[in-house]
Amino acid sequence: MQYIEANGAKIPAIGLGTWELSGRTCARLVEQALRLGYRHIDTAQIYENEREVGEGLHSSRVKRSEIFVTTKIWTTHFAPHDLERSTKESLVKLRLSEVDLLLLHWPNPQVPLQETMGALARVKKLGMAKHIGVSNFTVALIEEAVAACPEPLACDQVEYHPYLEQTKVLNACAAHGMALVAYSPIAKGRIKNDETLAQIGKTHHKTAAQVCLRWLVQQNVAAIPRTSRIERLSENIDIFDFVLSDEEMGLISQMGSAKSRLTDFGFAPKWD
Ligand SMILES: NC(=O)c1ccc[n+]([C@@H]2O[C@H](COP(=O)([O-])OP(=O)(O)OC[C@H]3O[C@@H](n4cnc5c(N)ncnc54)[C@H](OP(=O)(O)O)[C@@H]3O)[C@@H](O)[C@H]2O)c1
Repeated sequence: MQYIEANGAKIPAIGLGTWELSGRTCARLVEQALRLGYRHIDTAQIYENEREVGEGLHSSRVKRSEIFVTTKIWTTHFAPHDLERSTKESLVKLRLSEVDLLLLHWPNPQVPLQETMGALARVKKLGMAKHIGVSNFTVALIEEAVAACPEPLACDQVEYHPYLEQTKVLNACAAHGMALVAYSPIAKGRIKNDETLAQIGKTHHKTAAQVCLRWLVQQNVAAIPRTSRIERLSENIDIFDFVLSDEEMGLISQMGSAKSRLTDFGFAPKWD
């Protein structure tokens, strides 16, 4: 496993995304992933699966200190008192005394960012989160959040894959020592039919999805692919034994445009 270092955090470069995983499937996948060598699990309050993630963590019998667990606070809990209370609830569900990374899930302009960042830093100081960060923050919002937060931010978790160009956010994260954590890293599965990636994969005896994940990790980006299939858990983590050439990296980077966002929750912020 490779790690992405960001303001004191050591984030395992590949993690398991758990959006839309629920019940026994979720618990079983988390347990299996950890047994296969995953050391990073991504969940969120809004996924309503923190309890099952906690079950999977527990039954894997992997030492707590070896696992990097991220959860995200939903936007309706951004007022300082709610933020602290909802973090405590997440910890109870996850059966943990602290998470490794606690993120604000989306910007919420209805609560002053200064207050929310202060509350997030306080939760860290109280020992409920080792590291804190944001998700779906634009460059302008990253600047605002960094300025408002008394503690360093470890990451911005945003959509990033070969079809979506993210140079501005990458540069802003780098400027503040933050990591970019890529969600929907295999473009919600669309990558598997990509001819360019499949062609590159042939040279390395890898699948299109593996080439895509390697392209992210080789940029010092962490990726959290999600799968509900055990066999794909191994495929998605088996990317540390080959290297893409500069030419291959460049070819994949050229595929992206700033307009190919797949996420549309209707309340997304304006991206600059
Ligand atoms: N911060 C945020 O706002 C935010 C937003 C979206 C997602 N996320 C996080 O990021 C994680 C990943 O994003 P995502 O779930 O949107 O999309 P994703 O990981 O890019 O794609 C998931 C899809 O790809 C398929 N897949 C997985 N591995 C594959 C492989 N090796 N070959 C072919 N297909 C494969 C899966 O199908 P099978 O299940 O059939 O394998 C699933 O349909 C989420 O689970 C969540 O933890 C965060």
